[in-house]
Amino acid sequence: MCGIVGYIGKEKNALNILINGLKALEYRGYDSAGIAYFNKNKIITIKEKGKIEKLEKIIDYSIESNIGIAHTRWATCGDATKINAHPHSCGKITIVHNGIIENYDELKEQLQKDNYKLISETDSEIIAVLLNKYYEEYNDIIKAIIKTKQIIKGSYAIAILCADINDKIYAIRKDSPLIVAKNENASFIASDVPAILNYTNKYTILEENEIAILSNKDISFFNNELQPIKKKMLTFKGNSIDAQKGHFKHFMLKEIFEEKDIIEKIIKKYNTIEKLEKKLGFLTKYDNITIIGCGSAYHVGLIAKYLLEEYANIPVNIEIASEFRYKNNFLNKKSLAIFISQSGETADTLASLREVKKDKIDTLGIVNVQESSIAREADKVIYTEAGPEIAVATTKAFIAQLVIMNLITIYMGNKKGKIKIEDLNEILTNFDNLKKQIENILNNSYKEIAKKIYQAQNIFFLGRNIDYGIAMEGSLKLKEISYIHSEAYPAGELKHGTISLIEKNMPVISIVTKEHIFDKTISNIKETKARGSFNIVISNKTVNDCDINILVPNINPILQPILVTIILQLISYETANLKGCDIDKPRNLAKSVTVE
Ligand code: G6P
Repeated sequence: MCGIVGYIGKEKNALNILINGLKALEYRGYDSAGIAYFNKNKIITIKEKGKIEKLEKIIDYSIESNIGIAHTRWATCGDATKINAHPHSCGKITIVHNGIIENYDELKEQLQKDNYKLISETDSEIIAVLLNKYYEEYNDIIKAIIKTKQIIKGSYAIAILCADINDKIYAIRKDSPLIVAKNENASFIASDVPAILNYTNKYTILEENEIAILSNKDISFFNNELQPIKKKMLTFKGNSIDAQKGHFKHFMLKEIFEEKDIIEKIIKKYNTIEKLEKKLGFLTKYDNITIIGCGSAYHVGLIAKYLLEEYANIPVNIEIASEFRYKNNFLNKKSLAIFISQSGETADTLASLREVKKDKIDTLGIVNVQESSIAREADKVIYTEAGPEIAVATTKAFIAQLVIMNLITIYMGNKKGKIKIEDLNEILTNFDNLKKQIENILNNSYKEIAKKIYQAQNIFFLGRNIDYGIAMEGSLKLKEISYIHSEAYPAGELKHGTISLIEKNMPVISIVTKEHIFDKTISNIKETKARGSFNIVISNKTVNDCDINILVPNINPILQPILVTIILQLISYETANLKGCDIDKPRNLAKSVTVE
């Protein structure tokens, strides 16, 4: 949800560093982009509508500068136009902002009454205006920052340049992520670590209400009372190569192909009962679980609900974070609240975590990004360790979350006496079989399936029980990247109204893997066929009454969702590819949603 970068160093290649940093953050939004840098003691701003490559075309890299800030935008307040692109300036102040200023309307009204002219439609411009107003009043940038912080409400990570001070960048944040990094020649700020990995892996996280002042020699940190604070530098363990496409046409395809190695890596960490005991032993004290997440992370929760209830006999409630945070919850001392999030920064998931913590309920984060807010604030964290995920639509992080939930299921199932130790060991040690089945799926082509569906206006996904959870994710993936409207429905529910939408040749993709309800779902598929639909059935048994039957290898039912999900990811990918969509950066989306 908007990416910001700042650089100040001894080298005069700020433009290059800023643009490279933005490219690594483009997953956070790509409606418009801009940079501001000092040149001969003047701040120069360049911005452009559209993706960073458009901005890059108008940048003259021969211009020397050793200090600048930059932004890639996911529009929240104001259209995706050049005027609304960041940086925003007022008088001597230039800023970039990630977040939302919630009291924007009231501040705008007040400033307009005082004859301030706003140029853009953004809430962010208000920050520049306020900073400049108080800078003029106090002639002290820090005092202006503190005063502005007292006035603005909402979420923000802000980088600030002041035209009178050409050797410092100022940064503040509240509820939006910001890291501060260093090497021997330079200091950096960024919304996320990949932006700085080409230059350093030493960073720290700016905490709520702290102020950072960056120079080319050092970084100083202060609290709200302006007392200096010492911060520990962290070392990022990944590398920038992980964030390169290699020979794949898209990051999404590369990330789907990485899934089998990620699954192997995770399972190896937990492959004995002793290891499970050590890492998951705390789970046995709970008698009910609530899982909270957004988007695909919510779908992992949905699949996990079916798994945990069936194989571990524990009631599971699942909640969409943006709904959960504003309603009563009925958690108690025997409840565990699990927060699933790839980024660890999703605003609604983070806010839900904070709500639950207020009630002193135990919390567990299942998170991909190290040291992200959810990882730091949850009582316990399990890292999914899927590596940096670049494609906006999640694939490998989803699979990694699913594997963690699989492991939680078998561990709790064993403790509850529902899963025998032999079966548990079989899942933990017979990874080769799963790997072979994944390889077979990856070696198949789903182009022919894509050809059958890519021109459709509407598609249904059907399934019962856990297959419904998988259908939800399959449908979301297709919508996100191919822009085909699709709905996922519990197969038995379709007839209560929605079946009226079935038209001749409308694709219906059904998932049928659960033995005890196999015939029930097949009957529902026939009901759509009788109304002219084109039926694709993904099943672990041969199905005759359909147009295309994709056979998925029959493996342990706890692991079965992994295989079906990979097939659905590949179908979505091929469909979007055939339509010529921008697969890694679908329109209107952002990977890390740090606003409500
Ligand atoms: C965005 C992404 C989705 C993701 C959701 C939750 O909407 O586009 O792919 O599932 O956020 O993200 P999280 O980082 O919390 O898993």
